[in-house]
Amino acid sequence: MKEIAKGIRYIGVDHLDLDLFESQYIVPEGMAYNSYLIVDEKVAILDTADARKGEEWLKNLEEALEGRKPDYLVIHHMEPDHSASVAPVLEKYPDVTVVGSAMALKFLGQFMPDKPVGKTLAIKEGDTLPLGSHTLKFFAAPMVHWPEVMVSVDTATGVLFSADAFGKFGALCKTAFWADEDPDWACEGRRYYFNICGKYGPQVQALLKKLGGESIGLIAPLHGPIIRKDLGYYLNLYNTWSSYGVETEGVFVAYASIHGGTAEVAEKVAEKLKAMGCPKVATSDLTRDDRAEAVEDAFRYGKMVLAACSYDAGLFTPAHDFLHSLQIKGYSKRKVALIENGSWAPSAARVMKEMLGAMKDVEIVGEPVTIRSRYKEADEPALDALCKAILS
Ligand SMILES: Cc1cc2nc3c(=O)[nH]c(=O)nc-3n(C[C@H](O)[C@H](O)[C@H](O)COP(=O)(O)O)c2cc1C
Ligand SMILES: [Fe+2]
Ligand SMILES: [Fe+2]
Repeated sequence: MKEIAKGIRYIGVDHLDLDLFESQYIVPEGMAYNSYLIVDEKVAILDTADARKGEEWLKNLEEALEGRKPDYLVIHHMEPDHSASVAPVLEKYPDVTVVGSAMALKFLGQFMPDKPVGKTLAIKEGDTLPLGSHTLKFFAAPMVHWPEVMVSVDTATGVLFSADAFGKFGALCKTAFWADEDPDWACEGRRYYFNICGKYGPQVQALLKKLGGESIGLIAPLHGPIIRKDLGYYLNLYNTWSSYGVETEGVFVAYASIHGGTAEVAEKVAEKLKAMGCPKVATSDLTRDDRAEAVEDAFRYGKMVLAACSYDAGLFTPAHDFLHSLQIKGYSKRKVALIENGSWAPSAARVMKEMLGAMKDVEIVGEPVTIRSRYKEADEPALDALCKAILS
């Protein structure tokens, strides 16, 4: 049993054989559902775990309780990956008081329609829950990334229980228990952030401002490693990400090709950009590569070249789906250059322009380049101009 700070025990579980997190994100290194137990004059359980790991989580809880009974069960976030094991706790400890925002308590009734909830305590921003030497102070974090979310700070130890914020894909046994021992926290931390919280930049900004006045020494999220060192590094990344700033100078080249012609052009463009001195060029084959990673890269870089073929008088579906993902995740403040391919009536650029035009502060630079079926030497000047436009 691990203590993350004095009197605060880690009771979370790893989910290694999870096929898809949220039924959509591939998690090659699994997932962790973090949960904590504060053992003081009063005993508080902080969040539970996904139903598929419920039994294992309950075992961890029992072990950490060391014969004590929980007084409180704090729900920071009602999404079932954290609250699906509330019911067995209530069955075993009917005297426990469930603590959460009024909306979380309402959701609890929705998610457990047949289970009596018993004692509840609704908390709001600024409320405290004294446990003895530890005291939890609550802050509302609406839409980070659900409306009922609260985060809390233990004023005794400076631990921030940050709910889904500062989370990361990957089971702790595969990555690391402590973020500073994780070889590349930002890689999967970023894929997680943009796909799960991307749309809610303003709300994340509001939360960061709110917490600015608190003395925080450790961040304990609901997923991924515990952050105990260099907190400024993670806070800075969250500040950049949530303000839609550019994290890495470079260009992301994303392409969707049926028979390889558009892919060939996109690879040529990537080579050209490198030759022109672009500091970093990342590529994604939207038909095969992980969509969530493509979304991540679109936000990581300030510039993107999107190449796609025409399809049924519209846009080839993987590119269409990708743009739809970008739109719902709040893609903004970026420059994009377009390449379309078509054999009889090219239509991809029109749709890409329409979709990008509906996004905030997305500038289409240069002239969209039209390729007819396959790359030809005659396309060279237009592609050179497109590369110069995106780099300028
Ligand atoms: C189902 C289907 C629908 C297509 N619809 C269009 C279209 O509406 N207009 C067009 O110019 N080309 C259309 N095409 C042709 C491709 O866009 C074109 O052949 C292009 O060069 C394919 O590039 P690729 O080699 O990257 O797959 C369509 C192709 C397929 C398979
Ligand atoms: Fe969540
Ligand atoms: Fe979660």
